[in-house]
Amino acid sequence: MMDVLEKALLGLFLATTVAILISKLRGKRFKLPPGPVPVPIFGNWLQVGNDLNHRNLVDFAKRFGQIFLLRMGQRKLVIVSSPEIAKHVLHTQGVEFGSRSSNVVFDIFTGKGQDLVFAVYGEHWRKMRRIVTVPFFTNKVVQQYRFGWEDEAARVVADVKANPESSTNGIVLRKRLDLMMYNNTYRIMFDRRFESEDDPLLLKLKALNGERLRLAQSFDYNYGDFIPILRPLLRGYLKRCKKIKDQRFQLFKDYFVDERKMLENTKRVDNNSLMCAMDHILEAQQKGEINEDNVYYIVESINIAAIDTTLRSIEWSIAELVNHPEVQKKLRHEIDTVLGVGVQVTEPDTHKLPYLEAVIKETLRLRMPVPLLVPHMNLQDAKLGGYDIQAESKILVNAWWLANNPAHWKNPEEFRPERFLEEESNVETNGNDFRYLPFGVGRRSCPGILLALPMMGITLGRLVQNFELSPPPGQSKIDTAEKPGQFTLHILKHSTVVAKPRSF
Ligand code: HEM
Repeated sequence: MMDVLEKALLGLFLATTVAILISKLRGKRFKLPPGPVPVPIFGNWLQVGNDLNHRNLVDFAKRFGQIFLLRMGQRKLVIVSSPEIAKHVLHTQGVEFGSRSSNVVFDIFTGKGQDLVFAVYGEHWRKMRRIVTVPFFTNKVVQQYRFGWEDEAARVVADVKANPESSTNGIVLRKRLDLMMYNNTYRIMFDRRFESEDDPLLLKLKALNGERLRLAQSFDYNYGDFIPILRPLLRGYLKRCKKIKDQRFQLFKDYFVDERKMLENTKRVDNNSLMCAMDHILEAQQKGEINEDNVYYIVESINIAAIDTTLRSIEWSIAELVNHPEVQKKLRHEIDTVLGVGVQVTEPDTHKLPYLEAVIKETLRLRMPVPLLVPHMNLQDAKLGGYDIQAESKILVNAWWLANNPAHWKNPEEFRPERFLEEESNVETNGNDFRYLPFGVGRRSCPGILLALPMMGITLGRLVQNFELSPPPGQSKIDTAEKPGQFTLHILKHSTVVAKPRSF
């Protein structure tokens, strides 16, 4: 026992000495961004802790500047907090910073970047992005599926109306919208939908996706990712990740992918039948462009990137509309005036409703669903903001702060959609202004923006034109406390909302 302890201490001593030597040597060669003084092995971890959420990172930016470095054990984190430097990361030096940084948990879920979201910038990523563009990310897809999304929204309205609780004690609207978002996405991906919230297959899928998100989103595993000598303590956690990953892939295979393969063999009978996304992807596999694993990693990417983000954005919008009745009223008035009372919002209508668009923009600004974007990474040593950035640094762009910094925005803490019709009327969601990047910008920006915005517009438009949304009895507001995580910004409590049907 003593022997083992002695060896461990000796190992620790040697590692410390080497780390100090390396950092001294490197310090001479590199002009590194400012940051708290690190200690050997742990770096800044003991000072900073695990919770690297966007608000905590703002506090550091105020101390260390628009670009600063945190050394978290073996990981180097560069945090960018100004529009100018964000422009360099995402645009001017988009190639240099176009890779993704992973961690021990994401390595498992994405097969070390075999997916699309976490793929290293290069051939594989380019190929994956090309293969998914036609089946998911074109205007043609929007025009093909918008009727389905409108149908799903109509079903939400009908179900909420049919539930007597809606207009009395209120309901957790999010639960019903969850089914809608699965259906919106699974219609595109597999030409499938689920009939009810209690569909056993949907419940299984949601449980596995939920656990996948929870395991990845938690800050609890950071210590083992940052500090390799502590990694053995993560063994149980990583084993669970592996198990969930295997179960999900099996479920995708058994219930969805195999079905499309079978139909593939019998189709072309009806030449008019439209291909769903999976048909295109299987075609790419048949041509040898991607392998079978890639197919599952695409399904994994879409499940995670599409459903949760869009659902959470809708959830935040509803919460803000409930807490700002004057905004809700103005939105309802716009829809009634532009379309006519009771005329149900469709996708083409969403382009004729500037206040609806402004409500969506304001939600994505104040409650930015992916506040630090997906981490970027430089494969080679690079320069940024006058500093040297060592190869394989994880670059976090604090997009939430860019959009909520009082130096750049008028009263940013206020939910005020009017700003996008008044002083910020030139700001678009597509990244034309580096203060506002809810979907990122440049090579790694979100291709799903094309789908997410109309889905949000149709859903919010229909809810507001059909219901008066208010807090439950006895409450003047609903709780909008935030629960930040590794990637997405959640509302802490899924709110109960009273949805009183309007009579037309
Ligand atoms: C409101 C909803 C959404 C928000 C706020 C959002 C936001 C983002 C952000 C910030 C990024 C990273 C950008 C960067 O690193 O520079 C991203 C990447 C991505 N998103 Fe979205 N997203 C949403 C919906 C969707 C949907 C509906 C899909 C798919 C159907 C999707 C698919 C993707 C993919 C595949 C990537 C990775 C792109 C790459 O690395 O090349 N997203 N998203």
